[in-house]
Amino acid sequence: MGENINWQEVYQLAESWIREAGRIIKETIESPIHVETKSSPDDLVTDKDREIERFLTEKIREQFPDHHIVSEEGYGDRVNALSGVLWLIDPIDGTMNFVHQKRNFAVSIGVYENGVGRVGLILDVMTGDLYHVVKGQGAFFNEHRLPQLHAGELEKAVFGINATWINANRRIDPEILRPIVRKTRGTRSYGSAALEMAYVACGWLDAYFTMRLSPWDYGAGLILIEEVGGVFSHADGRPLDLLKGGSVLVGKPGVHKAIVEMIQAGLANGKYFREELE
Ligand code: IPD
Ligand code: CA
Ligand code: CA
Repeated sequence: MGENINWQEVYQLAESWIREAGRIIKETIESPIHVETKSSPDDLVTDKDREIERFLTEKIREQFPDHHIVSEEGYGDRVNALSGVLWLIDPIDGTMNFVHQKRNFAVSIGVYENGVGRVGLILDVMTGDLYHVVKGQGAFFNEHRLPQLHAGELEKAVFGINATWINANRRIDPEILRPIVRKTRGTRSYGSAALEMAYVACGWLDAYFTMRLSPWDYGAGLILIEEVGGVFSHADGRPLDLLKGGSVLVGKPGVHKAIVEMIQAGLANGKYFREELE
């Protein structure tokens, strides 16, 4: 399989579904939201996350019954291999923003074939901005083709990082990150990993770092970033596993390299880094 898939057609269907998903959310944005917490008080899910995931998974299954789906809220499949076509779906990325701000959240769809990113879409629901890519055909912010990223330098970088990681936490020694943050021009945190990765693809952020993401958070973002010559890995430079998740560092090649080197230097100095914590 593979050679027969028309990725442009897959893109067009995915675009119509993501836009419909965006319309459904936007139309009901002022309605009361039913919010529940999952693993912790800051891990939120709403009836909308579930409704949108159900909508998208039904569309995919109807159209592509032999494709597999990995998604956040339980409507996907149990997938443990990258063979065939895999859809990585986050129905609402930035649920906390959705609940607290009614803005700065996204729907994210990434489509992979045998582990190779083919089609990616990230819709900023409230602005209607669509970040999209078909591998080999360019990455786009709405109708604007994104230029290739240049190497970049840490000293001139705007770094996407949440304050969690430079304060006491279980996963990474804040002493690893503080010197990195000090070196950059500044930091930003938007609360939607998908949008933050889209911003890296657009060159608006020079890198984005987090210690804990799942495949649906970065499925689309990685494809966008790869298309414009950006780089991604786990925080310490190891290659990312598409099905497993964990720490994620994406960025312009030079900025990514500088951050990895500083993280590795921290590890060599005995600082802690716990990727595997639940
Ligand atoms: C979350 C957002 C957030 C990131 C979290 C993710 P969700 O996704 O992307 O920015 O820091 O790690 O879990 O739960 O809103 O889909
Ligand atoms: Ca998410
Ligand atoms: Ca989500």
